Amino acid sequence: MFRHTKHLQFEAKPEKPDALYAAKLQELIGGAYGEMTVTMQYLFQGWNCRVEGKYKDMILDVATEEIGHVEMLATMVARLLEGAPDDVMAKAVKDPAVGAVVGGMNPQQAIVSGGGAVLADSGATPWNGKYIVASGNLMADFYANVAAEAQGRLQTARLYNMTDDPGVKAMLKFNLARDTVHQNQWLAAIEQLKEDGLEGPIVPNALFDEENQEHSRTHWHLSDGTQAQDGPWAQGIAPDGVHQLEFLADPAPLGGPASAPPPPDHLYGTKAAGHGGEGSAKGPSGAPNKSMGDKIKDTFS
Ligand SMILES: [Fe+2]
Ligand SMILES: [Fe+2]
Repeated sequence: MFRHTKHLQFEAKPEKPDALYAAKLQELIGGAYGEMTVTMQYLFQGWNCRVEGKYKDMILDVATEEIGHVEMLATMVARLLEGAPDDVMAKAVKDPAVGAVVGGMNPQQAIVSGGGAVLADSGATPWNGKYIVASGNLMADFYANVAAEAQGRLQTARLYNMTDDPGVKAMLKFNLARDTVHQNQWLAAIEQLKEDGLEGPIVPNALFDEENQEHSRTHWHLSDGTQAQDGPWAQGIAPDGVHQLEFLADPAPLGGPASAPPPPDHLYGTKAAGHGGEGSAKGPSGAPNKSMGDKIKDTFS
């Protein structure tokens, strides 16, 4: 059950209307890393959470708070649009500077939503359910949550620098603070999953003995220069405490040519006459530099 309270979580009152800024603020509502995304991301993670208790409760607490952030931003947008577009249009006729502002307005905020927020980003791209991550694996999800809060805080910080309105700045100061605590909370939750023995740093914590272990610790050097080796990702013990990372300075391809099989005639794909079918799954592999393990497997298969 959800219950709505009339009051905003934090005040959202601009000193004066600003239709251009209202268009920019849409990014924090319906952008890929906006409040709608974190709301839905955390709600679905909470609803899909199979661990009753502290994890599920915390996820749903933060989710519910995020709905309040959508509400604050939508309220702020409506107040920034007060008088728009009529007032702004009238002034624009006389003042080219105001004309530029009108040019930057989101027309949908006037035409579609009647002077209110729309569920879209600052470029008017509609919000999309595919922005959210809710996998059922808490470690995979918490990594995504840290990333979402980081991108959200980054964009909030940029928007904070794009306004001088004290009322807008006051609200964004609150939003920045909540993005700080949420980032910290998801980072803490990642450590808690490890301490509780529920997940390890690599997701999922399974199939380690089945995966190709020859390739579970190497950095493939595939760009100019060798500076990529100057970091802990290419040497030393990996964050999982198990793997010894290594810089593969001159890696060779392990597979054969990337040829696709000939298309069936009824699909009318262009193909060379006398196509030998080298891309067929049944064709020869042609893999260069086979590893010793593969050569032994070939011999006995
Ligand atoms: Fe938020
Ligand atoms: Fe948040």
